[in-house]
Amino acid sequence: MKALITAGGHGTRLRPITYSMNKHLIPIGNKPMIFHAIEKIAEAGITEIGINVNEGDHTIEESVGDGSAWGVKVTYLEQAGGALGLAHIIKNARDFLGEDSFVFYLGDNIILGSIKPFVEAFLSSGASGYLALSKVPDPQRFGVPELGKNGEILRVVEKPENPPSEFAVTGIYCYDASVHDAVDGIEYSERGELEISDVHTWLIENGHTVKYEIVEGWWKDTGKPGDLLEGNALVLDALEGANQATTVEEGVELKGEVELLEGCQVLGKSVIHGPVSIGRNAVIRDAWIGPHTTIGHSTEIEGARVERSIVMDEADIRTDKHIVDSIIGHNATISLPHSETESGYRMIIGENAQLEL
Ligand code: DAU
Repeated sequence: MKALITAGGHGTRLRPITYSMNKHLIPIGNKPMIFHAIEKIAEAGITEIGINVNEGDHTIEESVGDGSAWGVKVTYLEQAGGALGLAHIIKNARDFLGEDSFVFYLGDNIILGSIKPFVEAFLSSGASGYLALSKVPDPQRFGVPELGKNGEILRVVEKPENPPSEFAVTGIYCYDASVHDAVDGIEYSERGELEISDVHTWLIENGHTVKYEIVEGWWKDTGKPGDLLEGNALVLDALEGANQATTVEEGVELKGEVELLEGCQVLGKSVIHGPVSIGRNAVIRDAWIGPHTTIGHSTEIEGARVERSIVMDEADIRTDKHIVDSIIGHNATISLPHSETESGYRMIIGENAQLEL
């Protein structure tokens, strides 16, 4: 078995963060999102991984390397012609995949727990395609299966206005080599993509078996900012605290699972209420860091209350404000006004930023 991970696309719903970084490198629990995908695949015993990236994007490779850190071999596959859809990614990976079966893993999906049982269920099912379905309140955002009276999938519709069921097809799939005929057999959709949902419908309509299992609670698509924060919370809920801090001063209170990475300092009267991950060489002074927060490497926080948020590396937050449900980018600064006489807020805010003052 091989694995193919997606790490291209434009991440438009996560702008402005994705103007300056590939969304799959956004830290979730202080690990780039794509590391979580690689960990799951390695844990399932799969050692040959192809990662799909946008043409000319070397940032994933700079971060992941050759895969030896996970005991796997990574091949980078630039998606020739652009981000033309999930089925196009499989087409683009044809030489890498050969005739092998593979796990197709959307690198922006967060999955908790092991994927091993899922892969084993596919292998013993004899199916050409194996999907994970999850009940969601908003199926319109996903590929949605229409189910027959015996529960069999009749077809899958991509982002339907009127969903034929309340299930989403989640972002982990297993296929055998017949998927390549399906990819070659479908047409571009109205939005100009080769759709993975059309691949599933093609397989079913051309005599192949597509089976599925229903999953609960272990899957999150991180397409939008709120989803990203929920993904961060899910990962942090599974955190096991560790203390590699250089300094934790006496007045500090640590509650719940708190991960203090190498060289960080927690000073003054800070309170950290886990699950929280504090990055390498971060400095937290007289601050309250609340549950489900990731504080990036070398970030400094003084005085603020921060909860249910992702603060990326090298940010600098010095304020008496309460920051919630926020995503704060690399090297961003939030400070109190520099002079008492200022009558307004002074800010440099990038395109598509969102502020609630
Ligand atoms: O999350 C599950 C959903 O994922 C499924 O229910 C849908 O059927 C499926 O189409 C997909 O929908 P999304 O709208 O969430 O897909 P998105 O465009 O966000 O892309 C998913 C991943 O693939 C993400 O890691 C970006 C990457 N990608 C996407 C495209 C279109 C590429 O690397 N290249 C591409 O051409």
